[in-house]
Amino acid sequence: MNGKIKLGLIGTGHMGQYHVNVAVGLANEYEIAGIYDASAARRAEIADRFSVKGFEDIDALIDASEAVVVAVPTAHHYEVAKKALEKGRHVLVEKPMTTSAEQARELVGLAESRGLILQVGHVERFNGAVLELRRVVDKPLLIESRRLAPNSGRILDVGVVMDLLIHDLDITMNLVGEEVKFVDARGVARTGKHEDVATAVLQFEGGCVATITASRLTQAKVRTLTITQESAYIILDFSTQDIDIHRQATSAYLMTREELKYRQESFVEKIFVHKDNPLRQEHIHFVKCVRGQTTPIVDGQSDIRTIEIASRILEQIHSSW
Ligand SMILES: NC(=O)c1ccc[n+]([C@@H]2O[C@H](COP(=O)([O-])OP(=O)(O)OC[C@H]3O[C@@H](n4cnc5c(N)ncnc54)[C@H](O)[C@@H]3O)[C@@H](O)[C@H]2O)c1
Repeated sequence: MNGKIKLGLIGTGHMGQYHVNVAVGLANEYEIAGIYDASAARRAEIADRFSVKGFEDIDALIDASEAVVVAVPTAHHYEVAKKALEKGRHVLVEKPMTTSAEQARELVGLAESRGLILQVGHVERFNGAVLELRRVVDKPLLIESRRLAPNSGRILDVGVVMDLLIHDLDITMNLVGEEVKFVDARGVARTGKHEDVATAVLQFEGGCVATITASRLTQAKVRTLTITQESAYIILDFSTQDIDIHRQATSAYLMTREELKYRQESFVEKIFVHKDNPLRQEHIHFVKCVRGQTTPIVDGQSDIRTIEIASRILEQIHSSW
């Protein structure tokens, strides 16, 4: 597909508005067919703010588009993405693709059989620091991630596993690239029936252990990933897109008559990361995929595996309640 891609955006809430903003900015790539939101008030507000056409009917918008962004609540991803794929449209669907691996398999199968792009919005994959990680990570032994945030009260249809933990699960599984052989997880629900806090321990076939923690009830925003491998200790901060690598750590006890001191030294390498808006990078990648210039970084099969493990994490959490 050459020329501008006619893009429709479905679901223009908190995340959807950022998609509209980025898509409008990519004026050489997209011609905005319009937007649709189930809320007429939201539809009118976003259509007005970005000077795009607000459709009153989702089918009419899909018919007028060549590709669509699906940023409706997670519980509705499946039905909306399926409708668009069945109409022969490429789809960029927000994460997680669906709430079950079975639904994800169906969508991936549908896209493959029709030769359509189905990309999942794992936006952190386009974070400059995460892209850089692939160059420095080599046989990790231990991966520890923390994604903690205050209560936004917004996402009510799924718990913190499908809302936040899925980001780090996707990154971790992609970095290690091996089958997960063991999963243990615990969680706490406070605001409703879904877990608000969760910790999962995974072990991969080759032995690497990962602990992934997510919370939407923490009085601060923390987004870090650390990796221990034999030659280095890597610290990534998602918010600042910074990477520090500690190497050649040495430690010694120094004893004098008066005191005992502990000294620890290591070389710290600060990696310069090209910082761009990850959502913009995600869209540029989507455009290239639709044009047949590349294939999705987050391919359907890897996303199915991520959802399978997320489902196992949820089973573990629920079985311990
Ligand atoms: N990639 C990220 O970092 C990130 C961040 C936040 C949210 N998300 C994802 O984006 C999705 C939306 O989350 P949000 O925070 O924007 O939620 P939100 O509630 O703010 O927005 C959802 C919007 O969809 C509309 N809607 C509901 N059902 C619809 C339907 N069937 N058809 C059309 N519109 C419909 C609602 O009226 C609302 O405006 C979720 O899947 C979430 O996981 C991703």
